[in-house]
Amino acid sequence: MPDHRLIHDAECLNTGTRPAVTADHFITPVEQFFTRSHARIPAIDAAAWRLEVGGRCARPRSFSLEDLHSLPRRTIQATLVCAGLRRNEFLLLGPLPGELPWGPEAASTGEWTGIPLRDVLGLVGVDDGARYVEFTGLDSVERHGRHFGFGGSVDLDKALDGDVILATQLNGAPLPAVHGFPVRAVVPGWIGARSVKWLGRITLLDEPSANYFQREAYRVQHEPDPAKPRDVTAGAAMSAVPLNAAILDPSPEQRVRAGPVRVRGWAMGSAARPVTSVHVSPNDGRDWIAAKIVAPGAGYTWTFWETTFDLAPGRHTLVARASDGVAPPQSPDLRDSWNVKGYGNNAWHRVPVISNG
Ligand code: MTE
Repeated sequence: MPDHRLIHDAECLNTGTRPAVTADHFITPVEQFFTRSHARIPAIDAAAWRLEVGGRCARPRSFSLEDLHSLPRRTIQATLVCAGLRRNEFLLLGPLPGELPWGPEAASTGEWTGIPLRDVLGLVGVDDGARYVEFTGLDSVERHGRHFGFGGSVDLDKALDGDVILATQLNGAPLPAVHGFPVRAVVPGWIGARSVKWLGRITLLDEPSANYFQREAYRVQHEPDPAKPRDVTAGAAMSAVPLNAAILDPSPEQRVRAGPVRVRGWAMGSAARPVTSVHVSPNDGRDWIAAKIVAPGAGYTWTFWETTFDLAPGRHTLVARASDGVAPPQSPDLRDSWNVKGYGNNAWHRVPVISNG
């Protein structure tokens, strides 16, 4: 692994790139893309691979890679954001057993090429009663003694919007194994967990997927159940990513030279709304200035911003927050977004730094 990688598990399934390096590329180079996998990467023979599409549809069908490649393709830019992004800040409030301590590195932007899901669903003929589209991966995750493919579902409206694609390429090259070869779903604007890798099955359903990762994880539950403190079944299933802003450079507790200090980061609107402004504070939110947008994003991608602060010697808390003009403002207080599994943290991003005279 290159030394710019941050590694969150012994098997190197969950990795990211040091945030300051990320700030150099609007489209994340493949070798810098974060990786989040709940089980080992499955070995898939592309020639034998089939995508089974069934459930509530008129003509269930099995697609080979050749079948998919015969359909029109499109390319979209989309930032994949893991639901666990910025969970490490919640650890200031207490432990989150069993959850990975992601910082801002659990987000990357790709140029995804693939077949619009809408076209594939058109070929199988969606039944009137279908409301959700479930994706199931060919990996084998173990939970409560059972093995199954990672999966989850999206609302039928989202599935048919033309922007959800069955991607075969990332940044103009075939999908690397770690990112879902040969085909993955890309659900732009929604939490990364719905962009199921190593796709094997698509099922039209009249209710949300019963997969563990839809029914028992990726749910926001603010109050723990005292009898089952890690259970979030009663929480709300996650879909669109929240409005967010992250400081990538400098990093927390970094020592910088007093004087002009460049501060860089990204921001992203919710529900495919582009960011309209980013504000940054050099002193824990007492004073704010509008950051300069250096690479504006569209709805599905992050926006890069930067500013320069003149920092006197001492300790400073840099803060960033963004607006998309519609989503509720980001909260100054981490406790407002705290939840049992530490998902979707979009409180003001605070980064303490020390400047030396
Ligand atoms: N798909 C499968 N089959 N298995 C997984 O573990 N992880 C999900 C999603 N798709 C996952 C998956 C999660 S939680 C995220 S954030 C993204 O993949 C990460 O995609 P990446 O590894 O390509 O960055």
